[in-house]
Amino acid sequence: MIIAASTDYRAAARRRLPPFLFHYIDGGAYAEQTLRRNVADLEGIALRQRVLRDVADLDLSTELFGERLAFPAALAPVGLSGMYARRGEVQAARAAASRGIPFTLSTVSVCAIEEVAPAIDRPMWFQLYVLRDRGFMRAALERAQAAGCSTLVFTVDMPTPGARYRDAHSGMSGPNAAMRRLWQAATHPRWAWDVGLHGRPHDLGNISAYRGTATGLADYIGWLGANFDPSISWKDLEWIRAFWRGPMVIKGILDPDDARDAVRFGADGIVVSNHGGRQLDGVLSTAHALPAIADAVGGSLKILADSGVRSGLDIVRMLALGADAVLLGRAFVYALAAAGQAGVAHLLDLLQQEMRVAMTLTGARTVAAIGRDTLVAPPR
Ligand code: GLV
Repeated sequence: MIIAASTDYRAAARRRLPPFLFHYIDGGAYAEQTLRRNVADLEGIALRQRVLRDVADLDLSTELFGERLAFPAALAPVGLSGMYARRGEVQAARAAASRGIPFTLSTVSVCAIEEVAPAIDRPMWFQLYVLRDRGFMRAALERAQAAGCSTLVFTVDMPTPGARYRDAHSGMSGPNAAMRRLWQAATHPRWAWDVGLHGRPHDLGNISAYRGTATGLADYIGWLGANFDPSISWKDLEWIRAFWRGPMVIKGILDPDDARDAVRFGADGIVVSNHGGRQLDGVLSTAHALPAIADAVGGSLKILADSGVRSGLDIVRMLALGADAVLLGRAFVYALAAAGQAGVAHLLDLLQQEMRVAMTLTGARTVAAIGRDTLVAPPR
């Protein structure tokens, strides 16, 4: 099939993947209203066309946490990426490095920190959840630091997992899940050969390394549910702030008051995010939450945004709404599933190309020049 636009990769991933994996990445929580709004609200933000402003010498690059980014994006932490392509985290990290942007390894990745970090020539970012097992948290931070990870992305919007009803329908969970997954693998032979057979071990690499025993896919949902910690508060994060030597980014902020708390806490950045609509359905889309947060804390820390970014135009929109950079989640996993490292690298090229056109026709020569002025009218 022809991939002309960054958004074409979703259909390609759907053809290649067993449904339980496609729907796990594609789906959201409950009725998926926030998931849909993330995309629709962002697409609804009107860009302001400007002409004759000499934008011959575009510069998409930016600096974030002391690192140079070829364009204002990083790959988001996505659990189980190694189920979407053979050793998927390694492939995605290599693609990101080849295009000059950071890759963030999820706590619940298939490939462990020690497999991914040496595969690339720039420091990766590491994502951690608040988990009941503080010993695991400390060990993971130590391992990430030893592997040279630069930035810690600390996810705070998962004190409990949101119900993903699609997973029960698709065979990710629910009755006869293992049998259904086996059947789906058998009927998707390209995935079965490449990832099912040659992408092993299918393990939660970081967790298995800590526990000393394999933690497989069947344990995934159970492990997540059993380990998230709803008792957490800002105070519990202080030892991590003290322990982690690099920049610390709090991921999962959707309210200006929480953003102000993140500044008081001493965070270097926040990710304005509703976890891609995978947690509390019915909350604001990122596009609608972001402007008030940027007004409240912009300039005090770096603001990243995710949830709904599918194109280079969307990156420009998020920047215009107040973000310094975006995280790409689903967008890169679709490309990873469809075509591995080459697919992700191609996606990143397409996003940059789309950004270039948007910057040219909004008259923004640099990333810093993208602001509220780039939009026709402030969003409601
Ligand atoms: C995990 O973070 C998920 O959204 O599934």
